[in-house]
Amino acid sequence: MPQPDHTEARGAETSSTAPEKPVRHPAPPYAVDEMISAKTIAARVEDLARDITRHFHDTEQLVVVGLLRGSFVFIADLVRELRLPVEVDFLEASSYGDAMTSSREVRIIKDLSGEIAGRDVLVVEDIVDTGFTLSHVTQLLRTRSPRRLEICALLDKPSRREVDIRATWTGFEIPDEFVVGYGIDYAQRNRNLPHIGKVRFLG
Ligand code: IMP
Repeated sequence: MPQPDHTEARGAETSSTAPEKPVRHPAPPYAVDEMISAKTIAARVEDLARDITRHFHDTEQLVVVGLLRGSFVFIADLVRELRLPVEVDFLEASSYGDAMTSSREVRIIKDLSGEIAGRDVLVVEDIVDTGFTLSHVTQLLRTRSPRRLEICALLDKPSRREVDIRATWTGFEIPDEFVVGYGIDYAQRNRNLPHIGKVRFLG
């Protein structure tokens, strides 16, 4: 698979007073083949929400933490199916940048706005791939002594795992394919697709 040069999102990771002008490199031409339909995703989100509601039925208020940016569509659908008092917070970690493989180095770009000590927390992730991102983020959040901390991941690629971590709830296990849509991007594109599709390079 071609490994394009992806410098587009790097500006967001550097801290300088003057905003860096993104350098855009065209991605090689690709098509997106549907893998999981919008209807199938919606049905699975309902199931996940039912299980999560049951698990946290006695919560005072669940803090749903979305990992940016890929989880933003999933978290929006999921919280609307939860029959619980919830609040929503976000955390952004960098591992891929705009590349198609993990850098294995995880940095926190945006931390939570609220406190989680003594609270019930649900971390919502788009994809668990090598596992480095989730492992780093959950270790960090556990140092803040939440009452309970569970993980819900929309997608899991178990064959790619390098760190021993599993979400409490997983939407779909998928093969080792690069996917986009339903919030998930390739070089910041395709997040607005209503379904999940796999990237197929042309030529
Ligand atoms: P990990 O640290 O290798 O588990 O990577 C997790 C993150 O990599 C996810 O939250 C995604 O942002 C990104 N990622 C992993 N696989 C894909 C993919 O197939 N398409 C787009 N992003 C991906």
